[in-house]
Amino acid sequence: MLVASIHRDHRNISRLLKLLNQKLAAIRDEKPVNYGLIRDTVLYLQEYAEKFHHPKEDLIYHYYISHYQDHEGVAKLDAEHEALSALTSEFAESVEMILMDAVVPLDVFADKLTGFVEHQRNHLELEERAVLPAIEKTLTADDWNYLQSQWEEEELDPLFGEQVAVRFKELAAAL
Ligand SMILES: [Fe+2]
Ligand SMILES: [Fe+2]
Repeated sequence: MLVASIHRDHRNISRLLKLLNQKLAAIRDEKPVNYGLIRDTVLYLQEYAEKFHHPKEDLIYHYYISHYQDHEGVAKLDAEHEALSALTSEFAESVEMILMDAVVPLDVFADKLTGFVEHQRNHLELEERAVLPAIEKTLTADDWNYLQSQWEEEELDPLFGEQVAVRFKELAAAL
């Protein structure tokens, strides 16, 4: 079901954010860090969250805004998705620089990682705590049936799905 799969995605993304927080603590403690895992996490957010998770939410949000009173500020989430995507691609570049051994002061990188996790976390919590509960309270069974019919295929999750893609095996093992 559509909304169940959104909650599931949020739980999965939440696990990734925890992993990033562990990496952040290790960087701050000047311990060795596998930056490849940070890159893989960002890659997953770009390949899955941006391509499937956000569009799934947008479908519901757009429908909600056009059929009901938007007391929760759902309309602004569109812009948040775009801002998150821009932030993610900017952060991905910083990770690539570290992996290419470019000189990046670790405290600068740690600050970027902190900001990245905070933005992702704030967005996710806004949806889980305010937006989705309000939408779930409002939409009827007919609304959900309609929305479900508009979401054609169940996407294959390359990290948390049944088949873990080769490029995410190391990350899956680390979770
Ligand atoms: Fe979202
Ligand atoms: Fe979300």
